Amino acid sequence: MKALKIVTVCTLLMSLLIGCGAKSDRYDTVMENKKLVLGVSADYPPFEFHATVNGKDEIVGFDIELAKEIAKDLGVPLEIKDMKFDSVVASVPTGKIDIAISGMDPTPDRQKAMDFSKPYYVAEAGVIVRAEDKDKYKSPEDMKGLKIGVQKGSTFEDVIGQIPEAKAELLNKVNDLVLALETKRIDAVLVEKPVAKSYEANRKELAVADVVLKPASDGYAVGMRKDSPKLVEAVNKTIDRLKSEGKLDEFITQATQLAESGE
Ligand code: ARG
Repeated sequence: MKALKIVTVCTLLMSLLIGCGAKSDRYDTVMENKKLVLGVSADYPPFEFHATVNGKDEIVGFDIELAKEIAKDLGVPLEIKDMKFDSVVASVPTGKIDIAISGMDPTPDRQKAMDFSKPYYVAEAGVIVRAEDKDKYKSPEDMKGLKIGVQKGSTFEDVIGQIPEAKAELLNKVNDLVLALETKRIDAVLVEKPVAKSYEANRKELAVADVVLKPASDGYAVGMRKDSPKLVEAVNKTIDRLKSEGKLDEFITQATQLAESGE
């Protein structure tokens, strides 16, 4: 009798433990909640940024168009959460968001914490400087010892290592880094080339330097919670469809025009 009781208690405890530990495919969560929650750091034109559309402030860009298509294929509405970039990365494992699309590289470290789609966009690194300094910097060595702005939690925390003796200024939002550059508190900002070009197009006091830095990965990818093969497959399917329809090229062209036409 006593042994039976112990077995029963153990079985109960085990099923409870398994119940708590087992995380379902995030695809099922999306379907249950009947919406797709996207996390972005909307400071990264042309990928995600704020723009006035019909007199209203909206988050727009290439990544947003991709997210809309994923939501459409899943048959649910899209909800956008604007946050700091390091929060976007952190919110995937915690389940605060369903997907992260934020010009994000699938680095080995991040791959330990989340699942990734196939790459959907390849971007080089870019260096924003004040226009009057553009000709001073042709190589990483020319930038030796400078104070350089990088976004907290981004791959540029590593990329900056390619510039000898650089002093990193870490901030949460790229807009604040750009402001620090304009007000001469720092000498350069590291982002990806298309982003650097968008900021250059909108502010005549800024320019993109001809400095080549090695990028952090083979391309941006969509981040999802670990062990979500169904969601990964669905996202990859949308990416394949958009590629074959030529839509990804169309989206980047449109987003670039919008980003460069002023904020
Ligand atoms: N590609 C870099 C990374 O993966 C920077 C991305 C920053 N994205 C943003 N929306 N601010 O870390």
